[in-house]
Amino acid sequence: MRKIQFFDTTLRDGEQTPGVNFNTKEKVQIALQLEKWGIDTIEAGFPIASPGDFEAVSAIAKACQKMTVAGLARCQKKDIDAAYEALKEAKYPQIHVFLATSPVHMEYKLKMTPDEVLASIKEHVTYAKSKFEKVQFSPEDATRTEKDFLLKAVQTAIDAGATIINIPDTVGYTNPTEYGAIFKFLIENIQSKTEITFSSHCHDDLGMATANALAAIENGANRVEGTVNGIGERAGNTALEEVAVALHIRQNYYQATSQIDLSETKCTSDLIARLSGIKVPKNKAVIGGNAFSHESGIHQDGVLKNPETYEIITPQLVGVKTNALPLGKLSGRHAFTNKLEELGYHFDEAERNLLFKKFKVLADKKKQVTDQDIQALIADKQTREADLYQLSAIQLQYVSNGYQAAVVSITTPEQEIKTSSAIGDGSIQAIYNAIDDVFEQKPILTNYEIQALTSGEDAQAEVRVTLTNPQTDTQINGIGVDFDVLKASAKAYVHASSSMKERG
Ligand code: KIV
Ligand code: ZN
Repeated sequence: MRKIQFFDTTLRDGEQTPGVNFNTKEKVQIALQLEKWGIDTIEAGFPIASPGDFEAVSAIAKACQKMTVAGLARCQKKDIDAAYEALKEAKYPQIHVFLATSPVHMEYKLKMTPDEVLASIKEHVTYAKSKFEKVQFSPEDATRTEKDFLLKAVQTAIDAGATIINIPDTVGYTNPTEYGAIFKFLIENIQSKTEITFSSHCHDDLGMATANALAAIENGANRVEGTVNGIGERAGNTALEEVAVALHIRQNYYQATSQIDLSETKCTSDLIARLSGIKVPKNKAVIGGNAFSHESGIHQDGVLKNPETYEIITPQLVGVKTNALPLGKLSGRHAFTNKLEELGYHFDEAERNLLFKKFKVLADKKKQVTDQDIQALIADKQTREADLYQLSAIQLQYVSNGYQAAVVSITTPEQEIKTSSAIGDGSIQAIYNAIDDVFEQKPILTNYEIQALTSGEDAQAEVRVTLTNPQTDTQINGIGVDFDVLKASAKAYVHASSSMKERG
């Protein structure tokens, strides 16, 4: 049985999704969850890109003890130096150097001849190898690169010391037959004294990212790159959870395994959905809300007789809890702790106590506290912990005709409480105007969504917002959960404003 390595780029390629902006605390939290999930290598960021990226890569390098931590670098010495500096405290560091090799990229983007591209690969991979034992090289836009030139580029990188060759389908152009053939051709034709790991890196523009990654594996790739929930710019990257489950369910066909702990899948997906502000579609493979529901009578009848009739993936396999008993007002600390364990969360005593207090407040307001409520409670705590600015209080004055007024207090990173008041046509507008005053910024609210987390009148509200910075045209997502719709709206807006302030 071959072992396939999983390389997660949620924090680098995934963060290129419009609106997604994780802060350092969130990135470390995600990295530790990815480590728990069983990821072999995390691409923690692009250290030269910004001081924030550099800081996050260094923090992840220090925090992760099991995974290899990689940093991205263009074929430029200053990029390689920045990656080296950011990763110097990593237990297992790796550099990922890339340069485009397709005719269109070389001519129009790089303005380099093919010979210049080969010379740059040689020079920079050699330089990277002088600083890192593990060097990965990616010929960007490989799937639109002429086959023989791709082989030359890959061979040049191997000769200069790369031991991991990643083949990016940068624009999501290829298909499984063609992509598989590229791996077969390269593996059969490269010359190397050391063992080379071939890796797939697909984008989902034509909806084939997972199929392409699996075709690469079938044709000799030992590593797959992708993101959690498939996030990424345009149509996103390969969804790693789909590849992990496909390898497991179709082990008879692929004859391959991975070290992914599938029972941590749902938890990992929930964390990314929450911190990225990108909801998982209900019909998404493996982790979508409808993945385990059977609607038609014939299917329901079949599943009741034998689940195997229509269910190839069980909810338990990916850590989805079904038929869980809800907690209530009378549930004690013991039942709550058991529930946390059952949901796969392991907190220390101080954190458990804090969550228990929050649970009690929730249980006072809500007849039944479901697993979703508890997950939202935990996620809300984690989001607030990662935010530099915290919502401290809101006060509202409502009149049935005329302007609404809001007073908002926010705790700054320096632990100062800043208060501001504002009016608006509606309560939410008044709150958002007051928050803008505190942050001294005026973003445009480009998306506002609200949904009930569970059914029933006493459900908690989940609000998602997208703010656009009119100066830079960048988007930032925010999320907030609360019983009170207005408070959830304020939390979501503070969350996004805090990220915008931090990003500058
Ligand atoms: O898609 C791509 O080409 C990339 C490279 C940087 C590897 O993400
Ligand atoms: Zn990519």
